[in-house]
Amino acid sequence: MTDRPLKDETLLAHAGNKPQANFGIVNPPVYHASTILFPTVAALEDMIKDKIGNITYGRFGTPTTFALEAAVAPLEGADHAIAMPSGLAAVAGALLSFLRTGDHLLMTDSVYGPVRSLCDTTLKGLGIETTYYDPLIGAAIAELIRPATRVVYLESPGSLTFEVQDIRAIAAAARQAGCVAMMDNSWATPLFCKPLALGIDISIHAATKYIVGHSDAMMGLVLCREVHYRHLKTVMHGLGYCAAPDDCYLALRGLRTLSVRLARHQATGLLLARWLAERPEVARVLHPALPGDPGHALWQRDFGGSSGLFGLVLKPCPPAALAAMLDGMTLFGMGFSWGGYESLLLQTKPETMRSARGWTPEGPTLRLHAGLEDPGDLIADLEAGFARLRACA
Ligand SMILES: Cc1ncc(COP(=O)(O)O)c(C=O)c1O
Repeated sequence: MTDRPLKDETLLAHAGNKPQANFGIVNPPVYHASTILFPTVAALEDMIKDKIGNITYGRFGTPTTFALEAAVAPLEGADHAIAMPSGLAAVAGALLSFLRTGDHLLMTDSVYGPVRSLCDTTLKGLGIETTYYDPLIGAAIAELIRPATRVVYLESPGSLTFEVQDIRAIAAAARQAGCVAMMDNSWATPLFCKPLALGIDISIHAATKYIVGHSDAMMGLVLCREVHYRHLKTVMHGLGYCAAPDDCYLALRGLRTLSVRLARHQATGLLLARWLAERPEVARVLHPALPGDPGHALWQRDFGGSSGLFGLVLKPCPPAALAAMLDGMTLFGMGFSWGGYESLLLQTKPETMRSARGWTPEGPTLRLHAGLEDPGDLIADLEAGFARLRACA
C-alpha cells in the first residue's frame, strides 16, 4: 500500500475491524458487560487510573462500542467518536459538556424540535439562555455573539425545512469569538458532509437514521478532535450515558453498507423530488440538490451528495383531502424516524416551532423519505395519493 489516503468506501469496509482479535471472525462480537474482573490489585489500579478508553466497567464501553467508534471517526477526519444511546442524547450530552449557568447558546431556528424543547426547558432551568437565529444568517451570526456565548449550534440542512446554512462562515465567526461550534450532521451522514473540515468543532449524528439504516435501533454519535475528547468523555461518563452493545453492533453493521444504501436513497430522492416539482398539487419542493433551491450553491460547495430526506409544500387543500392522500398510501409509511430502507411521507408543522425566521407555507408542509423500493412503484403510490387528494379537494 502507498500512503494514499483511503477513500470513504474503503474505510467503511475496513475501519475499526480487528478480525484477528476475535478468532478471525469478521464482525466484532457483541460484548455484554457490567462487571469487568481484574486479576490483581496492581492490574486494577493500573486500569482505573484512566477510565477513558480502558475496559474497566460496562458503562464505559466494551470492545463492541470501541469498534463502532473507531470505524466512524476517520470518515469525518475526527480523532474520536463517542457512541451515545440516541441522537438526542448525543445533542444533550454535547451541549451539557460546554454550557454552564450564565452561558448563552446560539441555536438555529431550524433545529430538530426536541432539541428546542431541551433548550426551552432543561437548559433554561439551568440558567442557560438560548437565542434562536435565522438559519440563513451566515457571517452576520457574529452580531449575535455576546461575551457569554459559549456554543453556536447548526443543523444543516434543517431536517423539516431544509435550509442550508453557511457552515464555514458561522463556524469561522464562532471560532473567532472563542465559542464551540456544533453541528447536527444526521441528514448528510459522514459520507456527504465533513463538518470538522469546514470549521466545526463537534459533529453530532442521530445514527438511528442512515447509519443504523434499518429502522430498528437507537444510536447517537459525537465526533471531535483530540482537544475536546477527554472533556466530552468525562461529562458523558458523569451523566451515565451508555450506548447498548447490541445497538452498537447494529450501527456498525449498518455502517458497512452505508455508501451503497445512500447512493440509492440519493438517486430515488432526486427522482421523486424532480417528479413532485412538476405536479400541479405541489407549490414547491424543499431539496437543496435541486438547482432552483435557495440553498443549492451552499450545498454544492460544502456537501458531497444528498440523502433521501426532503420536504415539499403543497398548494392549499382541505385537511380532509390531505388525510385522504396520506391515510391511503400503501408504500409510504407515516412515521417520524427516517433513514431506514422504507419510504415515509408525513405532514410536518414547522410553523409551530419557529421564532427567528417564520415559516409561512402556501399549504401543508410534508416530509418525504425516499427508501430503497423501486422508484416507479413509489411514483405510482404518490400518483394514487394525489388522485385521492384531488377527489376530496
Ligand atoms: C435531525 C435530527 N437530529 C437528531 C435526532 C434525534 O435522534 P434520536 O431519535 O436518535 O434521538 C433526530 C430524530 O429524528 C433528527 O431528525
